[in-house]
Amino acid sequence: MTTDDCGCNKKTDIQEDKEDINENGLKRRGFLNYLLSLTGLAFFASVLSPLKMLVPPEPLKILAGDLDNTLKYAKSDGTWYSEKAGEEVSASDFETGAGAAVIWRGSIPAILIKLDQDRLNTAVELEQGFAAFCSRCTHLCCVANWHLDRPEMDMIYCRCHDGIVDPYNIVETETEKGELYYGAKVVGGPVPRAFPMIPVEIIDGKILGVPSNLDLYNYC
Ligand code: FES
Repeated sequence: MTTDDCGCNKKTDIQEDKEDINENGLKRRGFLNYLLSLTGLAFFASVLSPLKMLVPPEPLKILAGDLDNTLKYAKSDGTWYSEKAGEEVSASDFETGAGAAVIWRGSIPAILIKLDQDRLNTAVELEQGFAAFCSRCTHLCCVANWHLDRPEMDMIYCRCHDGIVDPYNIVETETEKGELYYGAKVVGGPVPRAFPMIPVEIIDGKILGVPSNLDLYNYC
């Protein structure tokens, strides 16, 4: 510090430079700390997010009784039907090969696909090529998807343990209780048995599930 003509104390250029450096250093350190916390948060998010996917969802509630059987679009961001969440499914919404996550009877998650009938490998007859399958995985009940994680393959895919079932290959199989049903054949992963089909009918252009045997979906 120096004294000028008026007797005032004045900081030298060197002192001012030092203070600037200290201040900038503090700002830089603060910024680095901020970056480190962001990186830490991003790291935890990246570790926890896949783990969250591996946690099976709540047990499925199968509601018996006289309920609306019309399939409704499920919420699914980034899909062709994302704006239709909660709306009734119309047959005319689907091009051949298109599929959507839907909800049946208010609680049962399913995948509805308009299958290309030339590629079908099944004795089951489908109205206009529509087939619906319960999307709760028969392994540990995670909800599987169509064309979300594996858009390049026409398979229903369960991200929890890479389970894969083929909706074009509808086979007769049996539950753990020995009950026979038709479902999408297992082609990959630890999935123990086919995803059960939900029979559908088309009434006035709307697609409805037929509750012929609700027990078949009661495995989660
Ligand atoms: S829960 Fe679907 S593969 Fe395990």
